[in-house]
Amino acid sequence: MTAPAATSRRNFLNAGWRLGATILAAAAGWTLFESLRPLAGSGKGGPIKLANTGNYAAGTATYVPEGRLFVANTGTTLLAISQKCPHLGCRVPFCDSSGRFECPCHGSVFDIGGEWIEGPSPVGMTQYPISTDGDAVVVDTSKQIAGPARGAAQYFSPPKGPNCQPKG
Ligand code: FES
Repeated sequence: MTAPAATSRRNFLNAGWRLGATILAAAAGWTLFESLRPLAGSGKGGPIKLANTGNYAAGTATYVPEGRLFVANTGTTLLAISQKCPHLGCRVPFCDSSGRFECPCHGSVFDIGGEWIEGPSPVGMTQYPISTDGDAVVVDTSKQIAGPARGAAQYFSPPKGPNCQPKG
């Protein structure tokens, strides 16, 4: 027979473990929801002044949270690319290892210029006008530029390495 004090301590520890597991599950669920939930419409937007052009290295895509976009350096030009997938609006991260945008929702893949490579997206990724003010990059999020049609391959290159998303 178990002593009442031992039972009470065991119940207390079990309750603690359950509470910890519940908090961890809620945090994991929220993180997953935030990473996959479709973005709302673009709203009004406006010009956003960013870092100097030299901060965006060739072959990289830098996330700009205030604009929910990436500044991608294709090696020949800078592009401002919306993170919203043209398929159903999921947030599309840039995969550093492959050098491509890879949508986690249904597997659409885009090159560094946001051009469609594979998956259900009907077009490439939406862009915003980009310019410079002195050395600073300026993106106008009030105006969207429709993504390039499938078949555009101006910035296409083979993957640099492994994909971040599993192949479907
Ligand atoms: S939302 Fe990106 S492929 Fe469906």
